[in-house]
Amino acid sequence: MTNRLGLAVLRLETVSSTNDVARELAASGATEGLCIIAGQQTAGRGRQGRSWASAPGDGLYLSVILRPTVPASNSPVITLAAAVAVAETLISDFKIDAEIKWPNDVLVRGRKICGILVESAIEGNHLSYAVMGIGINILQRAFPDSIGTPATSVFLETGSEVTIKDLIAFLLPKLDRWYRASQSRADDVLAKWQELSPMSRNCRVVVEMPEGNVEGITRGLLPGGALDVELANGVRRAIVAGDVRVRETARP
Ligand code: BTN
Repeated sequence: MTNRLGLAVLRLETVSSTNDVARELAASGATEGLCIIAGQQTAGRGRQGRSWASAPGDGLYLSVILRPTVPASNSPVITLAAAVAVAETLISDFKIDAEIKWPNDVLVRGRKICGILVESAIEGNHLSYAVMGIGINILQRAFPDSIGTPATSVFLETGSEVTIKDLIAFLLPKLDRWYRASQSRADDVLAKWQELSPMSRNCRVVVEMPEGNVEGITRGLLPGGALDVELANGVRRAIVAGDVRVRETARP
């Protein structure tokens, strides 16, 4: 039985990274569901050693402590569940045309509006805890070219000054619902994720991997959350890490 996410919230003004704070608290026994929200991060981080711009008041910087019951090998589904919750919130509560890019970016018109970084502590084949870190761009008016990836914010998409508080109020119940699904009905998470991610099927992609780029066509998600990519020679490859770039939409 999980505690409801967001039942307890710790609000802090300035932190290095909400994921750091959450990991420390989780390691010293904090209960599942505790949310850490910061006004700014001085060392916000993203996947693959990237940084996450975290200026005061611009965005939501949130980390949630989780105590998953599923085997560690199923943990990618937790990340997918977070992306589903964010995309669903932006679509249904803010009328933003959000979609998911594998594994866990939420984009609008090809521009990144949210990034998710799940970090976990593994014991045997179980997770003693996981920290679900979510950054959502909310009030930015513009983004410097130096951030590298095209980005957007809730303000740029809607013209409204949505408050961070409002966004949290809409997001937390969906995070709770989809996280619970990831623990008991992973198929529901995979199905919803694929519905929200047009690139997950029949898209020509380039997968950037440490050993070099691989090109292929996406064929959906595999049960553990890996992306199923069909290579030019017909071989299917399960992609579990790396960045995926869309080339063009292919015919099925
Ligand atoms: C990515 O897109 O690479 C993931 C970005 C994750 C950013 C969030 S902001 C809250 C939490 N704290 C961090 O340092 N990172 C995550």
